[in-house]
Amino acid sequence: MTKTHDGVTVIDHPLVQHKLTLMRKKDTSTASFRRLLREISLLLCYEVTRDLELTTTEIDTPMEPMDAPVLAGKKLVFASILRAGNGLLEGMLDLVPAARVAHVGLYRDHDTLEAIEYYYKAPTNLTDRLVIAVDPMLATSNSATAAIEKLQNSGAKDVRFLCLLAAPEGIKAFRERLPNVPIYTAAIDSHLNDKGYIVPGLGDAGDRMYGTK
Ligand code: URA
Repeated sequence: MTKTHDGVTVIDHPLVQHKLTLMRKKDTSTASFRRLLREISLLLCYEVTRDLELTTTEIDTPMEPMDAPVLAGKKLVFASILRAGNGLLEGMLDLVPAARVAHVGLYRDHDTLEAIEYYYKAPTNLTDRLVIAVDPMLATSNSATAAIEKLQNSGAKDVRFLCLLAAPEGIKAFRERLPNVPIYTAAIDSHLNDKGYIVPGLGDAGDRMYGTK
């Protein structure tokens, strides 16, 4: 993993980079895109949870009792920014089945690129939990920052943001609004185009995973 100065961790694991390249290719089918996203989300989840605190619990192995490591603290919360966030969420839940889940429904106004909220449902006690907000694309950052601010207003104090691709413009805008929320991404691309798409990117993540275009 490579950490940049502005609180961004680039997950440069070879398997992540290889799968991301396959996802970027325009001829990759919807079925393959979905399968790759599920696979890559396991690897990203592994890295974003790498420093979770452990405690010990006494268990009996067939040989003898031992103090064995288990995750400390309350269950994690994965917050999916709809709809594309669900593509990352599914694989993450394979890895952490006991995690709690929040859904934040936002759509981008195609003219202003502002995030408009249409749905919000989250576990009630966010305060003592690590909340990992997920959305594959950090483009303008309007949706990510709006979703995270909503989670923070609902009590979340310890929040991380996980995406697949980030644009430098998105990182800058995110940092200005949320200076203390760490960002994890598989790659930082060149720039945003005038429609707010990441270049070279992979296109519209939601459309590619659900075959809506
Ligand atoms: N959302 C996407 O799905 N793709 C982009 O390139 C930017 C935002």
